[in-house]
Amino acid sequence: MIGLFPFAPAASAHARHLDTLIGGFSVLVALLAGPVIVLIFAFAVRYRRGKRVNRTRAEDRNVWLEVSWSVIPFLLILGFFVVAARMYFALREPPPGAMPITVVAKQWMWKFQHPTGQAEINRLHVPVGQPVRLTMTSQDVIHSLYVPALRIKQDVLPGRYTELWFTADRPGTYHLFCAEFCGTDHAAMGGGLIAMAPGDYARWLADAGGGGSLAAQGAALYARLGCGSCHGASAAVRAPPLDGLFGATVTLADGTTRRADEQYLRDAILDPNAQITAGYPAIMPTYRGVVDEAAAMALVAYLRSLPKGARP
Ligand code: CUA
Repeated sequence: MIGLFPFAPAASAHARHLDTLIGGFSVLVALLAGPVIVLIFAFAVRYRRGKRVNRTRAEDRNVWLEVSWSVIPFLLILGFFVVAARMYFALREPPPGAMPITVVAKQWMWKFQHPTGQAEINRLHVPVGQPVRLTMTSQDVIHSLYVPALRIKQDVLPGRYTELWFTADRPGTYHLFCAEFCGTDHAAMGGGLIAMAPGDYARWLADAGGGGSLAAQGAALYARLGCGSCHGASAAVRAPPLDGLFGATVTLADGTTRRADEQYLRDAILDPNAQITAGYPAIMPTYRGVVDEAAAMALVAYLRSLPKGARP
């Protein structure tokens, strides 16, 4: 694939496909619209008022010519629509084996955490050739993560998880921006994406240390907050068991069902009374103010790591 936009580095196959799509569409539109614009000017000059020209020409219709100049551009543009729609859906669907990285935005910094626990601020190191899935949320206002070299951008919202995924395939350092005005230092809320060869990334992870995997950090927090005193197997209080909860379908007290995904688990920790599991009393206290978004992500990673055992 040719780099159609040499001024903007393209660090992923998606970025190059998107450039080809936009470049190709621009050429098509120029070819379709160009002759029309030229003819408008040519006829405006040729048949202008006062010009002595023959205006009595008999009607001369060619139905198939008219059909062809409607149908052919339509089919060409429909082709672009199909390609663009496929790219759009692929962009919404991270591959199953993608490496999960959690992102918490706050005024005015980005915190990235790797599955093995290493955290970094405003810089994100990733291995090339490896799909990476970002699960993102905000601690305060709306931000937006934008990496031009990957041609991806996604709003990051308080109280909600949004996702992005990419596979960087060119080692290098690329800009990373906040693309949603979020206060005084919005313009400074940026940094770099560092795409590295897998070996270099492994060395970087080793150097960066990290206090155990994200799930292990969540497990420690689970123990410290005493979650097991209600959710544990031998607890006296009746609370929903957590083994195998991730990915299961939960029936709520109002009869609706929800899939226990990351968003559901986060809400269950920070706003438990909004979604009471059917058959259980509404006794869980909210952990808003006790657990911040980064800690909630660690707890979710821990719940995700629990055995997929049979659900009662
Ligand atoms: Cu964060 Cu703009």
